[in-house]
Amino acid sequence: MAELSVEHLLGIKYLKENDIDLIFRTADHFKEVINRPIKKVPSLRDITIANLFFENSTRTKLSFELAEKRLSADVINFSAGQSSVKKGETLIDTVNNILAMKVDIVVMRHASVGAGVFLSRHVDAKIINAGDGTHEHPTQALLDSYSIREKLGNVKGKKIVIVGDILHSRVALSNIFALQLQGAQVKVCGPTTLIPKYISSLGVEVESNLKKALEWCDVANVLRVQHERMDIKYFPSTREYTQLFGINQDILNNLGKKIVIMHPGPINRGVEITSEVADCNESVILNQVENGVAVRMAVIYLLAQQVKR
Ligand code: CP
Repeated sequence: MAELSVEHLLGIKYLKENDIDLIFRTADHFKEVINRPIKKVPSLRDITIANLFFENSTRTKLSFELAEKRLSADVINFSAGQSSVKKGETLIDTVNNILAMKVDIVVMRHASVGAGVFLSRHVDAKIINAGDGTHEHPTQALLDSYSIREKLGNVKGKKIVIVGDILHSRVALSNIFALQLQGAQVKVCGPTTLIPKYISSLGVEVESNLKKALEWCDVANVLRVQHERMDIKYFPSTREYTQLFGINQDILNNLGKKIVIMHPGPINRGVEITSEVADCNESVILNQVENGVAVRMAVIYLLAQQVKR
């Protein structure tokens, strides 16, 4: 049976194109499973998974939990807010205590860049990064690419613009790695203050004019402004941001072509995207959420094949 080239899913930058291909082919199978009347397979009855969320989440946390349950794994959930982390326990002590309960796979979201890599070096479990600070969010990028492949047939050769707060976005970085690995072209569009200085070193062009960016692309992946990661003002006002970088129906109507609209969520309706656009026929936002379960089932299933039983 084909195997992933990695022992953990810590970031897209560690993957090869064949890994993404294998994850997508496996996700195709699980997508069919989750659309059956009985949406469950017994594949991981002997696997225990801990979901450790040290940062807030709606989609990723629920999607992982559902993916694990659809695979029949035993699941435990941990949220930092109600835990002994508040009493001063270290990350490694917290995780080793959880692993002593015979856990095979840890899914972790953490505010610190590199938290997943750090954990993978210190504990004996498979680690899946569910978002580490402003760094990577690999399963989000995988489900985004999977959704493009589903909508347009292929990712190779497609033009994708990522619009918004690129500087603070782990979704942007993981998407850039994933899309380029599959042969897509990527541009970013947003206020200069929210574009990282290293972006050209990734082979990514910057287009500061939203209309030109949308005219160029096949797909626009729209990101929210991450106010919670900002300690200074990066643009004068939300109103000005929306005027320059918000996507509305008028802009789309004037393109003379249809483009696919994506958003990883959570959406700030009326800021980076209007409700009309978020809910339009070209929007695949809810397809992304559905595909997230199938893609996460695939990642968990493939890593679980490497667990010594
Ligand atoms: N897309 C995403 O990561 O959403 P959550 O923060 O709700 O998990």
